[in-house]
Amino acid sequence: VMSCYLDYLVFRTTDHKKLDLAYKYFKKPIINALSDLSHPCQAISDMYTLKENFGTIEGLNIVWMGDINNVLYSLSEVINFANNTKIDVFTNEKIYLKNKDNFNKNKKINFHFEIDENIISNANCIMTDVFTSMNDKVDKEKLLRKFQVNNHIMSLTDKKSIFMHCLPAKIGSEVTEDVIKGQKSIVLSQAKNRLVAQKGILKWLKI
Ligand code: NVA
Repeated sequence: VMSCYLDYLVFRTTDHKKLDLAYKYFKKPIINALSDLSHPCQAISDMYTLKENFGTIEGLNIVWMGDINNVLYSLSEVINFANNTKIDVFTNEKIYLKNKDNFNKNKKINFHFEIDENIISNANCIMTDVFTSMNDKVDKEKLLRKFQVNNHIMSLTDKKSIFMHCLPAKIGSEVTEDVIKGQKSIVLSQAKNRLVAQKGILKWLKI
């Protein structure tokens, strides 16, 4: 019935299987506005934000701190379009073991279970997201505490590095207040760019 009413569907769900089901039946474009597995709209927008800041999406070192989640998964997919851009993920080994199969074929993402200051010092961008996402059954706070983005982490990076977070953030958990409100944080222009990038998706779909 919805295929008769609508030109397209923007679908946000806590269960990716529901999205797969919608793809089966809905005969027009579906925009995945977030699922527990993926968040492509955020990833496309974040590439736009990186380009706005660095003039290019190529040759960048992105450091991701914390959970392995929907936002990271989609980011790891879109960086396949960016030559020589890689993601170093600092996370808990137990969380990695549960999620590793989603990343098996991707050579542009490396996982680390201990902080490596040398890798962090080469980052153009430090990114994080909430430690416990909306669909998580367990609180990952304790497992991920040592991967919080704080002033020490940001101070390892060079002057031009930036801090990104898709928001909403849990201040004091994955990021400290001084970092998210600090000079390197571009979270507000990153949020503003969702509007720009999502208009781009509609234009690409010719809607
Ligand atoms: N990883 C977060 C993203 C929120 C935009 C969540 O799924 O809750």
